[in-house]
Amino acid sequence: MICMIYGCGALLAFFTYDLMESGRLPNIKWWMIFIFAFVTSMVLGYPASWAFEKLFKERLCDCTNVPLNINGRISVPTSVVFGAVSILMVKALVPLVNKGLNTLSEALLDILAYVLVSIVLIDTTLIISLMTDFRRYVVLVDGGFQNHIAVFAEHFYANPDSYYNRVMQRVGDFKLSVSKNLIEKQLCEEEFAELIKDYLEYDVIKQMDEHIHHGTTTTLQHCENVAWICYLLNKKLNLNANEKELVEVAMLHDLFLYDWHDGDPARRIHGFVHADIACNNAIKHFGIPEKQQEAIRSHMWPLNITKIPKSREAVILCIVDKYCALIETVRLNKHFGLRH
Ligand SMILES: [Fe+2]
Ligand SMILES: [Fe+2]
Repeated sequence: MICMIYGCGALLAFFTYDLMESGRLPNIKWWMIFIFAFVTSMVLGYPASWAFEKLFKERLCDCTNVPLNINGRISVPTSVVFGAVSILMVKALVPLVNKGLNTLSEALLDILAYVLVSIVLIDTTLIISLMTDFRRYVVLVDGGFQNHIAVFAEHFYANPDSYYNRVMQRVGDFKLSVSKNLIEKQLCEEEFAELIKDYLEYDVIKQMDEHIHHGTTTTLQHCENVAWICYLLNKKLNLNANEKELVEVAMLHDLFLYDWHDGDPARRIHGFVHADIACNNAIKHFGIPEKQQEAIRSHMWPLNITKIPKSREAVILCIVDKYCALIETVRLNKHFGLRH
């Protein structure tokens, strides 16, 4: 099994390295990395170990026999090792792996990412199912279901006529609800098309269709997908966000005219800067008010950690954007309710 905590540490190391490479963070000295890793593992290790034990009834890491430990959850020697490994990661391993990755083609990197994400997902599912007695619950539910079906079957064969009318009634109800759903879907689509139609008239919006954003989805298609899911969620879950404002921020949240995969070195920090670029373009072309500006600037949270979504519309946009980006990257758009 994979220990996720080490994976998170490695991701943090990659993240730090990228920040230093892009110049957003000054080059960190080895002793700074050590102090940061040491303090982090001491401060976060205790609550993490406690929460893990409460959730899964098992110790994440047992330091009972290690000297200078606190309740067997954290210890000075393990944090020293953590600090030393962090130096090795940031200063040697990450640059080496990064160099290797740069030699691979984009297609191969995509495949590698899908394989690794699949392994981690399968592993996480297995760990959670093992540690939460998930299988026992499935067996219990399955047993209960089978008993219920057996009783029903006995009853059915004892009184076959009394069930006929009820079955026919159910079939009728089902067919009616299917057509009701179709009509409702049609109405939603018409209302949504009306909401976005004005934006689609603008040249700057049309040009977004010339650049790929995720997978095979263009930036315009992505924005329309995000707007559609935001609109549906708000409607179906009664989230009470302002519909027009929500659709507006969704349609304009990635208003930039370039393909961020084009290899230009400036794109390395695209994730951090494009929310501001899009917002400035939205102000320039649409004169959007303060509330919509804030929603667009915060849509990359938590990557842009200081720009926290504050309004209802901003929170919905921030969540839906990640959902659509993931579905588009794995190219399952039509299977997960996206428009394009
Ligand atoms: Fe974005
Ligand atoms: Fe986006």
